[in-house]
Amino acid sequence: MTSSPPRASDLPAKDQIRLLSGYDVWHTESVPGAPGVRLADGPHGLRVQPGDSDHLGLAASQPATCFPPAVTLASSWDADLVSEVGAAIAVEARGLGVGVVLGPGLNIKRHPLCGRNFEYFSEDPLVSGVLAAAMVEGIQATGEVGACPKHFAVNNQEYHRFVSDVIVDERTLRELYLTGFERVIKQAHPWAVMTAYNLVNGQPCSAHGHLLGEILRHEWEYDGLVMSDWGATTQRPAGVAAGMDLEMPASSGLYDDQLAAAVADGTLATEAVAACAQRVIDLSAKVKARPSGTPSGAPEVPHAAHDALARKAAAAGTVLLQNDGLLPLPPDLSIGLIGAFAQSPRYQGTGSSQVNPFKVTTAHEAFADHPGGVHFAAGYNSAQAIPDASLIAEAVAVAEQVDVCVVLVGLPGTYESEGFDRELLDLPQQHNDLVHAVAAANPRTVVALSNGSPVLMPWRSKVAAILESYLGGQASGGALYDVITGAAEPGGRLAETFPASLEQVAANPWFPGAPHQVQYREGLFVGYRHHTTAGLEPLFAFGHGLSYATFEWGPLSLSSTTITPGDPVRAGVQVTNTSTRPGSEVVQVYLHDQTGVVLRPRRILAGWAKLHLAPGESKQCEVELDPRAFAFYDVRADTWATPSGKFTIEAARSSIDIASTAELEITGGVETSTEPPSVNAIAASDADFGRRLGREIPQARHTRPFTVDSTLGEIRRTFVGGLLVKAVESQNPVDVEADDAASQLMLERSLRELPLRAVAIFSQGKIKLPALNLIVKLLNGNYSGIAKWMMARGKPDLSI
Ligand code: BGC
Repeated sequence: MTSSPPRASDLPAKDQIRLLSGYDVWHTESVPGAPGVRLADGPHGLRVQPGDSDHLGLAASQPATCFPPAVTLASSWDADLVSEVGAAIAVEARGLGVGVVLGPGLNIKRHPLCGRNFEYFSEDPLVSGVLAAAMVEGIQATGEVGACPKHFAVNNQEYHRFVSDVIVDERTLRELYLTGFERVIKQAHPWAVMTAYNLVNGQPCSAHGHLLGEILRHEWEYDGLVMSDWGATTQRPAGVAAGMDLEMPASSGLYDDQLAAAVADGTLATEAVAACAQRVIDLSAKVKARPSGTPSGAPEVPHAAHDALARKAAAAGTVLLQNDGLLPLPPDLSIGLIGAFAQSPRYQGTGSSQVNPFKVTTAHEAFADHPGGVHFAAGYNSAQAIPDASLIAEAVAVAEQVDVCVVLVGLPGTYESEGFDRELLDLPQQHNDLVHAVAAANPRTVVALSNGSPVLMPWRSKVAAILESYLGGQASGGALYDVITGAAEPGGRLAETFPASLEQVAANPWFPGAPHQVQYREGLFVGYRHHTTAGLEPLFAFGHGLSYATFEWGPLSLSSTTITPGDPVRAGVQVTNTSTRPGSEVVQVYLHDQTGVVLRPRRILAGWAKLHLAPGESKQCEVELDPRAFAFYDVRADTWATPSGKFTIEAARSSIDIASTAELEITGGVETSTEPPSVNAIAASDADFGRRLGREIPQARHTRPFTVDSTLGEIRRTFVGGLLVKAVESQNPVDVEADDAASQLMLERSLRELPLRAVAIFSQGKIKLPALNLIVKLLNGNYSGIAKWMMARGKPDLSI
């Protein structure tokens, strides 16, 4: 018989503190009546390790369905579909004894070169928030499995992600980086939230009084569990005071003494510890699936149905960027299927979200029975960087003898991954050379891209059609065939801007910043917000995507033309499918703030509707506009405010393709802002950025003196640091199942950027806080205390 959950405050202090750190890499601690909970990545399919074998959590995982990652799901602009995928992940979670799924990831795509953009939804907070909320609702629909949106907050790059301090002004923080999280919390009530590795304005996210205590817990009234990202904890007493309940993974009691001492000396309230412990217990009480095995009544995983859903989602997220009419292909045409990705597809990203799919359908397999015949050529060798003339010649020979070519190119795994950022927007040279050569031999060429973030397309004007397939998950090959032949329509619209160059990215001069600091001087001007304000022509605009069907839009009407702040208002548009094919359309509604009260981007997405229309069908779509989109964060008044005055509402096919407009007047809002005198949109000068921050720009942390935040890369050249790095490397973490080049690269980079405090966490109790502090002293050439230490404890054990 199971006992009922205890009240945390009734537990001995030691047990309360024990609950605040994991049991191991993937489980929470237990107390009688509150069994441990299994946590598992991740955002587009499960990564559960059999036996939970290695302490870094990198071992191969059990087979699961690999759905398309967030970048692809987001391009569907279809909340129902995203929710359906979430529900399917929850079914698999139950079967594998997983109580909380570590996803979705909803960080804003501040820069197209962030290596982890494939795991995030969009550059726009409304798209990110709505779709992440849909995913959470899907996962939690049956009330048996919880979701854990991540990474809270402002985690927008991989470079030095463990230690980078994001310097961002409060208005930008609220309007761009927190808005999506706020929606998820308030709408979908996730059971857990994961904090980010980085710091924000000098404080680590895992101990952030403002982000966690004031905003998440107090303003948003979040009472679910907050856990750290893996190895991110520091300043634990401050974390507990802020409501950061659970440190993951287990650190073998690294911070237990510190927490007990803080309680004893009164700097940490016993109630704060009890409240965090209570939330660990509450989570345990909610979870139905247990690690001990498949619970009775857990549904069988319907593998075939999940594979079909993965295939449907991949097609729905495929964006038809360009089409001269060649697509969809009639069945009798012969196809030259070109590109090594057809046989070894790139369908998901590397890192913690990497799923071990129970089945993969390659394009080579999916195209095999094409009635018109198919001829394959590899065109490039994925494992090498330079073009191979003989492979290109073979591809050209195929191109010359077929009716049409489908060329699969994109970014290899070593170009984008968790753990490191991309360096350029370009595709590999050999991929560009291949497209040029094939298109020259056969202009009836379709390029199908597999990548997790925007790329340049120097061959754009030479090819007949371009499909942005993104990373399609395990069924990507089948989805591509469906889309090419018209069995499915490419339902996607870009949820991010494809810039024409890096110079068009406002954040570019400050990306990725210094190792310990990155300044968000571009403020609100991220993605289309910048392009539309600065009048830049992107390669492909946010919201863009073609269809095989054709649509006619009626004029835009508003449910009211004068409102007061917060009043609901709907934008209506009649859309008719004028073609003989079924198709989907995305009606995007932007606003243009004409009030002049504060500096605003030219265009802000306020809502959208995804419509599925049969041939000839007409639908009146009603888009509820998000009141928050009208508001700005008034920094001096420390609250949201809606300006009074005129707004133009724009119904659009993309952020640059406006179909019709209507005027709206807001009365009773604020007439003037109390925000600091307007600075230029991009705060390029120190004076402007300081003014926007409302304080002096903080100095980036110097490498010396060393602290617990110093990275292995920084200390390795010192004598003591060299010894420590050797000790870490001798454990060979880089070899753990990192049998592919991208994983190797990720691990090498992560190791170099790992701060000493995280080394202590991952040391499984071998480095305790006093030893960590001693190491820092030694690194700084301060040998006093070492003799005392050795007498008291014997030689410090540096092996981890
Ligand atoms: C990632 C998280 C992930 C965790 C556990 C971290 O490195 O940033 O997104 O959930 O590892 O694998």
